[in-house]
Amino acid sequence: MKKILCKTYDDMSRQAAQLIIDQIHAKPDSVLGLATGSSPIGMYQALIEAYKAGTVDFSKAKSFNLDEYYPIAPDNDQSYHYFMQEHLFRHINLSESHIPDGTAADVDRECTAYDKMIAEAGGIDLQVLGIGPNGHIGFNEPDDALFAGTHKTGLTQKTIQANARFFASIDDVPKMAITMGMGNILKAKKIVLLITGKNKTEVAEAIFNGKITCDLPASFLQLHPDTTVLIDENIYQ
Ligand code: F6R
Repeated sequence: MKKILCKTYDDMSRQAAQLIIDQIHAKPDSVLGLATGSSPIGMYQALIEAYKAGTVDFSKAKSFNLDEYYPIAPDNDQSYHYFMQEHLFRHINLSESHIPDGTAADVDRECTAYDKMIAEAGGIDLQVLGIGPNGHIGFNEPDDALFAGTHKTGLTQKTIQANARFFASIDDVPKMAITMGMGNILKAKKIVLLITGKNKTEVAEAIFNGKITCDLPASFLQLHPDTTVLIDENIYQ
């Protein structure tokens, strides 16, 4: 894994955006894997600025998001559908964007269909990730075993607590999600992991320590041939 220390959140965001812009310039019909949460917001802002300045065109590109809460309606302002519309999709010109359906009645079918759509799109060229303080990527939470494909999962108490900041009360945080699995993520040709937030100092060290364990899902990124980890240095202060 290539580790890049960035002076500020803004610096991290701009470097991440540049990696996406380079990807689109090299392959205009790229398939992007996208994340929600605090970590990529600045990167999305930088991509919107670049699009508005005319330096990047997403018209041939597609995106697949990592995850969505379950159950949740797309117009709920805490849904990841809503988040992506607000922070990226309504500002740029992606040809297609996909997010797991938090209202699916048949979740297994939704998960199989999502994996099929990714495969039919040719797989993910560049996957953006954030990381939970417990080492989750997507909503692949620490567990005895991890899933390869898209699946429904329970959220750990630590993740519910970490995400409570976006909700009026911790009781409002959904307890389940639909997420891409570890196989979906590791099959991406390139991965860009963003690490920011003072509660990530320990996990940012642990993923580089050479051990791979289901207790720390992000440690599997050590097996991936082209992962860049951009770290906001403020996590160490
Ligand atoms: C979001 C996702 C999660 C977040 C992680 C970090 O789509 O898959 O893995 O990336 O929980 O969240 P933030 O960036 O809010 O600290």
